[in-house]
Amino acid sequence: MLVTGGAGFIGFHACKLLLGRGHRVLCVDNFDAYYDPAIKRANAAELSQHPNFQLLEGDIRDRDLLRRAFQPNVDRMLHLAARAGVRPSIANPQLYFDVNVGGTLEILESMRQYGCTKLVFASSSSVYGNSPRIPFSEDDASAEPISPYAASKRAAELLCYSYHHLYRFDISCLRFFTVYGPRQRPEMAISLFTDRIRKGEPVEMFGDGATVRDYTFIDDITAGIEAALQRVSGFAIYNLGGSRTTSLRQTIAAIEDALGRRAIIRQLPMQSGDVDRTFADISKARRELGYQPNTPFPEGIRIFCEWLTRTKPLAAVTP
Ligand SMILES: NC(=O)c1ccc[n+]([C@@H]2O[C@H](COP(=O)([O-])OP(=O)(O)OC[C@H]3O[C@@H](n4cnc5c(N)ncnc54)[C@H](O)[C@@H]3O)[C@@H](O)[C@H]2O)c1
Repeated sequence: MLVTGGAGFIGFHACKLLLGRGHRVLCVDNFDAYYDPAIKRANAAELSQHPNFQLLEGDIRDRDLLRRAFQPNVDRMLHLAARAGVRPSIANPQLYFDVNVGGTLEILESMRQYGCTKLVFASSSSVYGNSPRIPFSEDDASAEPISPYAASKRAAELLCYSYHHLYRFDISCLRFFTVYGPRQRPEMAISLFTDRIRKGEPVEMFGDGATVRDYTFIDDITAGIEAALQRVSGFAIYNLGGSRTTSLRQTIAAIEDALGRRAIIRQLPMQSGDVDRTFADISKARRELGYQPNTPFPEGIRIFCEWLTRTKPLAAVTP
């Protein structure tokens, strides 16, 4: 199995699950500097302990590297590599399009060239923008993304459709809804909030705390990825969410409860590009993939806080 972005947050857990199921995993990752590459190197080092894991370090936009990646036995692939994050995409839209759209195009072209016909692609709930049709359903046109990141994911989905149409590739695009859990990207809100609350530092809350997110625990996401890889057929888009919403205030409260510590909150204006709410209709994924998220948010937050506290102990915790 070829996995791009396997050294990242979701990629690490997906590779671990696939290795545990007996797959051979070839991971392409360039350890990009969006957040500390040492975290990704540590993930890859841990995966490398498994005899069936192989790392090919490099960029998905490098055709020569992809030629080496598409070994004859690669019959399906999981494409996770991307520049993630909404706000930085506003500062650097070219880069986001280059990696997320141009990179996906290179993957699709390489699949065509080397005879791989099955792809599971990591898309995002952000493609729904501020759609008023709640919960978000895959039937939505998703034609009004409100950040370059969201637009890049929607554009990549459209390219996937074109390659399905032209070459009969089997492709499933999975729209992940804010994924959290151990090893979450350090710049994501839950990671940032948890780290600051435990250190007694103020957390920056954008807006009045009423924005809501549909959070998905990492183990539920990897179960959905595995099901999609097994069943990929034709062209399909699936929401993978928790199908429950939590406000920003409630998110902070859940972290406070898990840490046993109160947050110092600094309220700041809403950030442009951020959507007001996400909420997944998961009936299609349930029906066709057997997807069933089963980690309640407070439980997932407890697991995350326990992991953070264990792996990154504070030298001196202020009382
Ligand atoms: N985490 C979430 O909540 C979330 C939500 C929706 C969608 N997604 C999507 O899921 C995927 C994985 O997200 P994540 O949170 O694990 O992010 P991540 O940044 O931890 O992982 C992405 C990985 O891709 C690698 N990468 C980036 N550019 C590359 C390139 N040009 N060539 C090769 N490798 C490259 C990075 O080094 C990293 O290891 C991404 O496509 C992201 O857009 C994530």
